[in-house]
Amino acid sequence: MFGFNYYTPTKVVFGKGTESQVADLVKEFGGTKVLIHYGGGSVVRSGLLKRVTDRLDDAGISFVTLGGAVPNPHLGLVYEGIELCKKEKVDFLLAVGGGSAIDSAKAIGYGVANEGEVWDFYDYKRQAKGCLPLGVILTIAATGSEMSDSSVITKEEGLVKRGYSSDYARPRFAIMDPELTMTLPDYQTACGCTDIMMHTMERYFTNGGNMELTDALAEGLLRTVKKNAIILRDDPKNYDARAEVMWAGSLAHNGLTGCGNDGGDWMTHKLEHELGGLYDVAHGAGLAAIWGSWARYVYKDCLPRFKKYALNVMEVENTGSDEEIALRGIEAMEDFYRSIGMPTNLRELGVKATDEDLVTMAKKCAVGVGGEMGSAKVLNEEAMLAIYRASM
Ligand code: NZQ
Ligand code: ZN
Repeated sequence: MFGFNYYTPTKVVFGKGTESQVADLVKEFGGTKVLIHYGGGSVVRSGLLKRVTDRLDDAGISFVTLGGAVPNPHLGLVYEGIELCKKEKVDFLLAVGGGSAIDSAKAIGYGVANEGEVWDFYDYKRQAKGCLPLGVILTIAATGSEMSDSSVITKEEGLVKRGYSSDYARPRFAIMDPELTMTLPDYQTACGCTDIMMHTMERYFTNGGNMELTDALAEGLLRTVKKNAIILRDDPKNYDARAEVMWAGSLAHNGLTGCGNDGGDWMTHKLEHELGGLYDVAHGAGLAAIWGSWARYVYKDCLPRFKKYALNVMEVENTGSDEEIALRGIEAMEDFYRSIGMPTNLRELGVKATDEDLVTMAKKCAVGVGGEMGSAKVLNEEAMLAIYRASM
């Protein structure tokens, strides 16, 4: 077991109708002029945005709005948001939406609080010295960005998708009303469940330092999401299942399920980010499409963890060799993906990549991770290419 820092400063306000508390929360965290940032319009159509602006109006808090954060959010809109915040003297950001709106808001926050080019942070050229304070009203359980230190932005030029993490960007508050997620298309619900599980799986499949308690939390979270993803497939309006998945999404990526290990593997995410950047696929679906090929490539180097996962999460039969059990677990996971409508390879994801495209993605991915990365198994560019090829 390794030592660790665990820092989760976000005030979570969870339950039905909690968005009505937005004005009090903005005031509590010192906001006087707010930028409300949202995505492509689902919050307009659902009436949520109107309810939020009404609350702020009633409380006498002035605000400006900026919509348009697309899935795999773009740097161009971040620049627009930075300009708007400076012009309007905004001192608080309120993201209303999913990971894309939240991440875009975080990037805007960096751009306002730091001089110079904001992409530098995502390009690993320098570290941020601050971020405008941020609050969140979450509408999709998926990325965990509502409590995480991360944001992921795509630079349109060259379609480069990169993440940057710092504690400055952890939201001050997160309003989580499971009912807000009931308008989601089934596909997005399934993508969210996949992403949530993957955030914990990335931390679980490691070769460095493990803790019994962390494993128990991780396995419990994974079994819960697996079970409730199926419930939501059959009954999308099930409030309790929505709530289980929503809370799991935050705990899966606020650091809890990695305490005591080496930080995790994260290569499935890195391989997916290239897909998201280049083909604009939904993040969760991209993860499902790549995971099986990654798992088959690395499992022998991380056998005890794959065996434990197979037995404790996928609940496969405990017979045969460790390798047989591990492989049964991987197959069971792929069956689960298929059962909730997720792809298990790039073709099912709808990506028509040539071998040249795969070579390009492997090259970009290797550059993005500084040459090589991974904990279950360290992967270099050649290994990344082999996984992309296997996932076709
Ligand atoms: O844009 P709108 O119109 O709001 O529609 C969205 C979007 O089309 C829709 N949606 C969201 N809530 C809805 C809804 N539709 C109906 N009813 C609702 N209640 O769902 C679609 C997906 O939304 P998006 O915000 O893109 O989803 P998600 O939360 O999965 O975010 C994905 C982005 O986050 C990044 C991903 O790479 C991707 O760019 N990630 C961020 C992380 C972080 N900050 O910690 C970690 C993750 O691993 C991930 O990389
Ligand atoms: Zn993710």
